[in-house]
This record gives sequence, structure tokens and C-alpha cells, in this order.
Amino acid sequence: MCMEQKNSWPKILKTHLPGLDVSNDAAVLESHGCDWTRFRTPAPSAVVFPRSVEEVVELVKLAKEHKIPLVPSGGRTGLSGGAVADAGEVVVSFDRMRRIIDFNAVNRTVTVEPGVVTQTVQDYALQQGLYYPVSFASQGSSQIGGNIATNAGGIRVLRYGLTRDWVAGLKIVDGHGELLECNNGLVKNASGYDLRHLFIGSEGTLGLVVEATLRLTDPPPPSLVMLLAVTGLEAMMDVFRQFNDAVTLTAFEFLSDTAMHYVRQAHDLAAPMDDGSPYYALLEFECDDPAAEDLGLQCFEQCLEKGAVADGVISQSEAQAADLWRYREGISEAITPFTPYKNDLSVRVSQVPEYLEGLDQLVKTQYPDFEVLWYGHIGDGNLHMNILKPETMTVEEFEKICGRVNPEIFALTREHNGSISAEHGIGLLKQPYLSYSRSEADITRMRGIKAVFDPMNIMNPGKLLSNRLE
Ligand code: MLT
Ligand code: ZN
Repeated sequence: MCMEQKNSWPKILKTHLPGLDVSNDAAVLESHGCDWTRFRTPAPSAVVFPRSVEEVVELVKLAKEHKIPLVPSGGRTGLSGGAVADAGEVVVSFDRMRRIIDFNAVNRTVTVEPGVVTQTVQDYALQQGLYYPVSFASQGSSQIGGNIATNAGGIRVLRYGLTRDWVAGLKIVDGHGELLECNNGLVKNASGYDLRHLFIGSEGTLGLVVEATLRLTDPPPPSLVMLLAVTGLEAMMDVFRQFNDAVTLTAFEFLSDTAMHYVRQAHDLAAPMDDGSPYYALLEFECDDPAAEDLGLQCFEQCLEKGAVADGVISQSEAQAADLWRYREGISEAITPFTPYKNDLSVRVSQVPEYLEGLDQLVKTQYPDFEVLWYGHIGDGNLHMNILKPETMTVEEFEKICGRVNPEIFALTREHNGSISAEHGIGLLKQPYLSYSRSEADITRMRGIKAVFDPMNIMNPGKLLSNRLE
């Protein structure tokens, strides 16, 4: 794509869609041209702010006609470059589509525009006496459209599943500029292919989410949180199994001692217990009566006796529970200044110890000079591996060195039938490695699907599948 052509796009938009809010402001281009990844330089040619479904339809029709690549942009909290526009694309921001459209108490659904922030949905649900359970550290800025595009997971997947499980209906503008209404909020619908599920997790490569109907549920009972010093990885799985069998876990997270060090340092948190530990588990379980609490405490005692756990802290109040969560939820922000190179991996839970030992060995031999820290949603098999950039190294050099070891990490992941992206998506950064998780046949079918919904390849080109516009 030549420079001249890219430069003409803002003018085309302004001429043909005079009512559309189009920005070329340098600060807006920079802020809206990237997500939380710091490995690419934002360089969109314009950012547009549609206010209605009709405006999105018109925009996509025009983009199709002129072959203008569109990059959807929500809260921009992604970690795989899915919302990065580094090649002159036009960013479609949903910041002006933030209305809660409808609430239905009988259906227990809320219908929202894509720019509504996740936390707003959670708060709104609570005001109605209900609960939207998908939660994660960036919920205060991530938007529902982005959550759907990436099938966001987070800390309570173990109990409540992923975003996919809460989407009852979707309106999509696909790459033809056509409005598709998927499932209309129905519980049962056996009328053929459920297109809704193709769009969920498609990273904006098939169409733009313009409206979503989300299911809500009963608010959870009170819960209890424990932070446990766990003596090793086998022990971690033992602890998980013991608690999972005895109580209703809503979360089972882990962090390594290095992660503990950084989160404490960044947020000025006190040592949670007297002695350090190689790993910590942070678990939360439903505790609506004293019997549930007793069961949890019994598990804790048994883990202590067996030597799986060396020490632990148990929340005595909601405020203490929130304080304990900070040791886990504060990590990502704590390490952001170190430009972490992230791998977001998953295997079946039963395989976690063997897999993590293998990864740890690999990392120790291949990155002897880098600081590597681990945390994640170990109760659902999702491990976040973060390598911190040494201060003296450039981002380019750092990415290159980290990338050299990826084939070995991903080959080990493949050996365990795991995934190279559990919840962060493939985006731009993991795109070259897709074949470690998906077969050639899979990728061919995905390309076929892409061609059906987006024949001109204008929907987030270059992400997920290697189809940048040239
Ligand atoms: C988390 O679990 O904290 C998020 O996925 C963010 C991250 O991996 O840094
Ligand atoms: Zn995570």
C-alpha cells in the first residue's frame, strides 16, 4: 500500500461521510493506534468515532469500496497487538457508542453498545440485583466490544466461563458492510450455524461488534479468599485438587516469588507472611455458611500437614479479601514499566506441573540473563510468562531475542496439546506462531471463513491470519 493512497483515506472519509467524526490529531492517532503492547509504533492515518450502527454500516461500505483497512478499537487494553494500527490503517473507535440500550428482567439480559466499559456492565447488573461475572484487572477500561472480539477470560473462568458463555445475542457489521443479527438473545435456537460464536474471539477480523446482548446471573454468595505459600508445582496441583473437590472455587490463581517481589514493590504492599515461598496460590471460594468455611479451613490444615503449603493468610472481611487480591491483580500494572515480553499459554490443568517445569528449564537455559516471572489462572491451565526488558536494551533487540526462544516454547506447548494464546489473542505479535496451535487444515478453513465475511480483507488485516494489505 503506497503512502499516497494511505494519505487519501482521511479525505475520502470526510468527503463521503461528512457527518462522521474523523480525527487526524497527532495525540489521538498515537493514543488510539495502539493497545497495551509496546512492541509496535502506532501509525494510523485517521481515527473515526461512529455514533450509531448506521454510521458503522456506511463506514464499512465505503471502506470496502476504497479498500481502506479498518482496525477496531475499544479500551485498548489488549496484550497481543490486536488493536494496533501501525501501517496507516483507519482506527474505528467505539468511544462514542457507550449506551446501555435495554435491560430485561425476565430474560435476565442487558443490551449494550460496544463501547460500554466492562465495569459499567458489572455495576449496572448489580443495580438490577444481578451479576455479570466476567472479571479481570483491566475491567475498568476494557470495553464489551473488545471483550467479545477476544473472548476475554480473566480470574473467574473456573466458575463462570469466558465471555463467550455470556453472549446471548450480537449485532455485527461484517466486511460487506451488512448488518448481521446473531441469535437475538435466544436461549434455544437450533436453526443452523451459530454465527455468533464465529465472531466471538475473531479479533475483529470478520466484522465489527455494534451491539451485544449479555446474559446476567444471580449475584454470588459471600466468598472467602486465601493466599497460600505453596512449596512447589506438584504441591500447587495437590492444593488445587483438594480445594476444588471440597468447596466451590470461584478462582484459583498463582504467582511466583519474583511476581510477588514486583507487585509488592510497585504497590508498596507488606509481605503477606513471614517467610518467602517459591509460589503462592490465591484462591477464592463461595462461603455462604459456616460449613463451607469449615471445609475450606480443613483443606488448608490438610495442605499444611502434607507440606504442600507452608503458610497462609485468610480473609476475615471483604476489605481484607480485596487486599489479598491486590497481590495478584496488581502484577500486570506493576511490571508494565519493564516492557514485559508476554507469552499467554495454556494446557489442560492436569498437565500444568510437568509443562511448567519444562518451560522453567527452557527459560533458565535460554534466558539466563533475563528476569522471568510467572503468574496466571492456574486453576484453568492458563500461565502468563513475562520476561522483563533490561533497562539497557532497546525494545527491538529485546523482542528479537525473546522471539528466538518462542519456537522452543511453542513446540513444548504443542507437545502438551496446549495453546500459544489462552486469553490474550493472537493479534499481531503471536501471528507468526499460529501454526503451533492450529493445524494447516484449521488455518485454511479460517481463511475460507474470513473470505466469506470480509472478501476485501479490510477487517483488521494482519491480525490473527497473515493477511496484511500490501
Ligand atoms: C492477568 O491475568 O493479569 C492479565 O491477563 C494481564 C497480564 O497477563 O498481564
Ligand atoms: Zn490473565
